[in-house]
Amino acid sequence: MKIAVIIPAAGMSTRFNSSGQDADLLGMGRSKLDEDLGGKTVLQRTIELFNTRPEVHQLIVAGPHDPDAMSGFKLHHADRLNLLGAELVAGGKDHRWQSVQAALGVVSDDATHIAIHDAARPATPPELIDRIFDAAGRFSAVIPVIPVSDTLKRVSSDPIDDQSEDDPLAAILGAGDANPMHEIVGGIDRVDAVMVQTPQVFTKDLILRAYEQGDLSSTDDAGLIERLGEQVVTVVGDERNMKLTRPGDLPVLRAIMNVHGTKQRASHKRF
Ligand code: CTP
Ligand code: MG
Repeated sequence: MKIAVIIPAAGMSTRFNSSGQDADLLGMGRSKLDEDLGGKTVLQRTIELFNTRPEVHQLIVAGPHDPDAMSGFKLHHADRLNLLGAELVAGGKDHRWQSVQAALGVVSDDATHIAIHDAARPATPPELIDRIFDAAGRFSAVIPVIPVSDTLKRVSSDPIDDQSEDDPLAAILGAGDANPMHEIVGGIDRVDAVMVQTPQVFTKDLILRAYEQGDLSSTDDAGLIERLGEQVVTVVGDERNMKLTRPGDLPVLRAIMNVHGTKQRASHKRF
């Protein structure tokens, strides 16, 4: 197996920057991938999951689409990326799949497999990567999943009209927006439901074929394989393989990784 690892890192960190009151404390517009995990950025931690593995022959990071944002990204990350042997391409403006597509364009001819892993998942246990690489030797599309432990329900797409929004104080405080209330419109059977993680690994031919389809809208790459009608196989995921999505995830990740952050100081100000 010769694996090319694609790391989509072109996202806007919208949820990380807009979680009610936390947004004010953290300041706006910060990339979650610049956050500090024991003296290394989130992005560096993620790259280091792969760069010393013998099966990995190429590492491609898809950075910001916007040229200005890319300049800032290079300022923070380019030296380290070079040292770790990772290539950088401009990612997609609006969707993760656009970033993956851009990275697929520079995959070397001799790669047999492509692994795609969110830059925002820096705490993936090595045993999980062992499991998924091992399964990729036997199946052409493999993804890690974990069981759902909470009850699942569907809610209305629009919030309900809550009387408290008429309260002028609540309107000033924006309570209606911070705590929207929805109506339950149905249940989802939890028995067969799983939560999907990355890295997802595919034979190169299969993932290239999946990305030739007209409609590429999907929040993960396995969805595009499913759309082809091809089999996707699961391996056991890991709860520690969490994605940094909201500010509250950062202390949890630090605890999982047993590292500390730089107190009250953005890591980008230290470079
Ligand atoms: N990603 C990407 N290109 C995009 C959107 C997302 O490469 N156009 C990457 C992110 O950088 C991240 C991974 O895909 O590593 C998973 O996306 P997500 O957790 O949703 O990150 P963001 O899109 O940055 O966050 P948000 O959706 O809250 O804006
Ligand atoms: Mg996103």
